Amino acid sequence: MQDAVTKPQWEEDNSQDFIDYGKYFVPDREVQINCICEVIPPPSKPAYILDLCCGEGLLTRALLDKFPECHVYGLDGSPKMLAHVEESLADYGERIKTRQFDLAATDWRELPFPIHAVVSSLAIHHLDGTEKQALFKDMVSLLMPGGSLIIADLTEPMDQFGKKLAAQAWDEVVRQRSLDLDGDLKGYDYFCELGWNHYAQSEPDPDSIDKPSSLFDQLKWLDEAGFIGVDVFWMKAGHAIFGGRKPNPGAK
Ligand SMILES: C[S@@+](CC[C@H](N)C(=O)[O-])C[C@H]1O[C@@H](n2cnc3c(N)ncnc32)[C@H](O)[C@@H]1O
Repeated sequence: MQDAVTKPQWEEDNSQDFIDYGKYFVPDREVQINCICEVIPPPSKPAYILDLCCGEGLLTRALLDKFPECHVYGLDGSPKMLAHVEESLADYGERIKTRQFDLAATDWRELPFPIHAVVSSLAIHHLDGTEKQALFKDMVSLLMPGGSLIIADLTEPMDQFGKKLAAQAWDEVVRQRSLDLDGDLKGYDYFCELGWNHYAQSEPDPDSIDKPSSLFDQLKWLDEAGFIGVDVFWMKAGHAIFGGRKPNPGAK
């Protein structure tokens, strides 16, 4: 008997590639991490920040440093990624907590502690549009009043023209980054070999684990979910940082 059809998903090989090559593949990685930390307002009392799909924990570390009064809860599906976080952030002691989870599942979306911010970098695009809308609604419920949801992610261009521009721009930043870091194109060559540039695909791949939605749709879904101050804080090569705040009726 044939196995039931399993949905394509992020595998441990993808984690290893990202650990080894993320520094080349992510446009302006340090700028993005800084930007996410900057757009989260300081908390009014000690609370948690959730890092959804925290990967190896680079953003997690920046959040721990920027918000010393906060705990950071790093969730990811990959044991390899979580092992990295636990080892590299061990010095933060009780302030870092981790958990293996499935982003698409709902069993983690109620938590018994106050959540000041939910962040996610380069992962929400693994959900389809309906799943993203459900996530945004659940996050507005999960957050404390005044709390923020900040997403850094691939976005889907509105048409072929935008897609071509994004493909070229992403190629160029990875090419330049390889040269800047190593003086050669090995990082860029591997980016091409893996076919990592989502925008360079001529036809949509129904088996792809990447399901980015347009920035326009996602801003609308955040608004519809009840977020205020919905905005875009940074954008390059098809990647954007965007989000909003949960209303705080008690605030002066
Ligand atoms: C491109 S990496 C980004 C990691 C990190 N946020 C960063 O920006 O460096 C994507 C991460 O999402 C996680 N991931 C992908 N799909 C997932 C899912 N359905 N549930 C939980 N984690 C998932 C992977 O394990 C991986 O760590």
